[in-house]
Amino acid sequence: NNYVVIMAGGIGSRFWPFSRQHFPKQFQDILGVGKTMIQQTVERFDGICPPENIYIVTSEDYLELVKAQLPFLRDEQILLEPVRRNTAPCIAYACYKIASKDPDANIVVSPADHVILDVPEFKRVVSGVLETTKYNDILVTLGIRPNRPDTGYGYIQVQEDSKPIGPLKKVKTFTEKPNLELAVAFVTSGDFVWNAGIFIWNAKTILNEFKKHLPDISEAFTELNDTYYTERERKALKEAYFQCRNISIDYGIMEHADNVYVMRSDFGWSDLGTWKSLYEQADKNRDENVLQGNVMTYETRECIVKTPKDRLVVVQGLQNYIVAEYDNVLLICEKEQEQRIKQFVDDVKEKQ
Ligand code: GDD
Ligand code: MG
Repeated sequence: NNYVVIMAGGIGSRFWPFSRQHFPKQFQDILGVGKTMIQQTVERFDGICPPENIYIVTSEDYLELVKAQLPFLRDEQILLEPVRRNTAPCIAYACYKIASKDPDANIVVSPADHVILDVPEFKRVVSGVLETTKYNDILVTLGIRPNRPDTGYGYIQVQEDSKPIGPLKKVKTFTEKPNLELAVAFVTSGDFVWNAGIFIWNAKTILNEFKKHLPDISEAFTELNDTYYTERERKALKEAYFQCRNISIDYGIMEHADNVYVMRSDFGWSDLGTWKSLYEQADKNRDENVLQGNVMTYETRECIVKTPKDRLVVVQGLQNYIVAEYDNVLLICEKEQEQRIKQFVDDVKEKQ
């Protein structure tokens, strides 16, 4: 049976000030299409698995947001984390939970904040891979052709001389978030694809990999049983999460496992994780500016200006800048320095 796990507990701090701890971007309609990112994500899996097999993993803080935006979910389909420990514990939790009910489960794990333009092609790719992971003990990730040396992604090198499984190629190396020098080398070599962060595997295989590469996390979750959100489970979950270290699935498993395969895909993918990715995705005017709000510009090029509609913003003489105002925060930052926004957010927290 097929299942979909949607990871929706991040705070999207690189997209600050729009993404905030109390209202992260996956619960917002970033592109202005009339649906939030998590609603679009769920919709994309229509037909891949029955609606009752969709699980959302998120922080306790976002329960009401999830319920309001996805009213069809039953309570047991919303897995709540007592603390944020990155994607490895999140995936362990969901996969143990699903496996306790259905040991033969076949699972797609997806972020809640990606844009996919060609949904039929996405469905074709995902269904095809799900057919393969039913019978093969492999970890599959979807690979995207890179178009810039972005240091926020995982880079995958394909082992060309190894036997493929249908369209799936064996992965030789997986490098999560390389430094700029490496990223440039990867992109120019032409041998690498980006990890889309969408994973497909059967429950048995991923749980074995947890045992092998993250035994501490594996142990923390094996105790959980098939009950949902009873007092007892809440206590067990708290203990499990406090026992876990903060680590992503990419650093924790994908970089080390030796049964990783990649499916090269092309369905208009974008992780709207950063200002630059929104800049690439959005419509640009004659001066290559992306302007959202009530904005006038003079001698200004290649900027992204996103400000509240009820405020007139006039910009002169800026090139390659992000100007973003939301709520009580105004950010003005060089586009090339956007990786530092995470640090700004940390500093702001400390100040308050
Ligand atoms: N439930 C839960 N709990 N979800 C989380 C947590 C957590 O503690 N931390 C992050 N998430 C969710 C985010 O909301 C997002 O939907 C998804 O997990 C991925 O987390 P990101 O923080 O956005 O990861 P990333 O973008 O830096 O890197 C990953 O995605 C890239 C592609 O977009 C990696 O898999 C990279 O290798 C990949 O290239
Ligand atoms: Mg991301």
